[in-house]
Amino acid sequence: MHTIKKLELNQQLTDLDILEIDSPSCSACIALQGAQILQYQPKHRATPLLWLSQVNTGQLGKALRGGIPLCFPWFGAHPQGLQPAHGFARNQIWELQNVSYDEAQAIHHVDFILQDSPETRKIWSHAFRLKLRISCGRSLNLDLHVENIGSQAFEFSFAWHSYFQINQIRQTEIHGLQNAEFIDQLQNNHHFLETDAVTFQQEMDRIYPKASGYYQIVQAHAEPIQIAAPSCASVVIWNPWQDKAERLGDIAEGDWQHFVCVECGQIASETVRLAAGSEVHYQLKITDL
Ligand code: BG6
Repeated sequence: MHTIKKLELNQQLTDLDILEIDSPSCSACIALQGAQILQYQPKHRATPLLWLSQVNTGQLGKALRGGIPLCFPWFGAHPQGLQPAHGFARNQIWELQNVSYDEAQAIHHVDFILQDSPETRKIWSHAFRLKLRISCGRSLNLDLHVENIGSQAFEFSFAWHSYFQINQIRQTEIHGLQNAEFIDQLQNNHHFLETDAVTFQQEMDRIYPKASGYYQIVQAHAEPIQIAAPSCASVVIWNPWQDKAERLGDIAEGDWQHFVCVECGQIASETVRLAAGSEVHYQLKITDL
């Protein structure tokens, strides 16, 4: 039902260990680097739910483009611009704690931990523990605990940077954001109000600091994808369009048209201050049922 092997992309073996899961309800693939779910397809669905770039190099320490990388302990550019964007959690090797299978429900539960180390303290000087449970069945569920195991409070922002596979970005809509305020990262971070469903005619990079937590990806010829993260205040909607996709260099030609990112987390005004000894818990559920 599950095996660990080396990541195989473009017929190349790479340095990354991945966990492969297959059950009557779904198939999935999770990299130990970043505890990043790379592929997920419920058996009732004709196509994968998540998009994964086919031109990833699969090098240790370089975030893979696609699936669900976790941005932590900051989202976007480093506050002082000194460290890599989106934090370090997606580049670290997480400890795989346990894999269990609930046969009655055909759900695999995969438990990971990432704790501060001399390496992370060079980047971010705080003592923390992240516990992530990925549950793969007919839907995909992620549970994240963030613990402050140090003696001083710290601040963090984060996002589940989910890449969803879609047929065509120009014919895709995101529902659930009407009346939410957003920061347009492509218009000098000015604030605007979303009046309708989100549609795509050009590059998009919007942060909605406070949104409903319930979103739908609606497209022709496919069941809507339901995203539920009521414990996460914020969401980001991102598609690079053609020019930025070419600049990024790890997206195959034209493939930017086949994904949209809907990234739930705590961002901007919703940055979290966590007291010493405390913990917070976030959940994300993705389904097309
Ligand atoms: C999005 C940001 O979340 O991630 C974009 O809003 C950014 O500004 C994108 O370009 C991809 O980031 P990265 O670091 O994975 O290339």
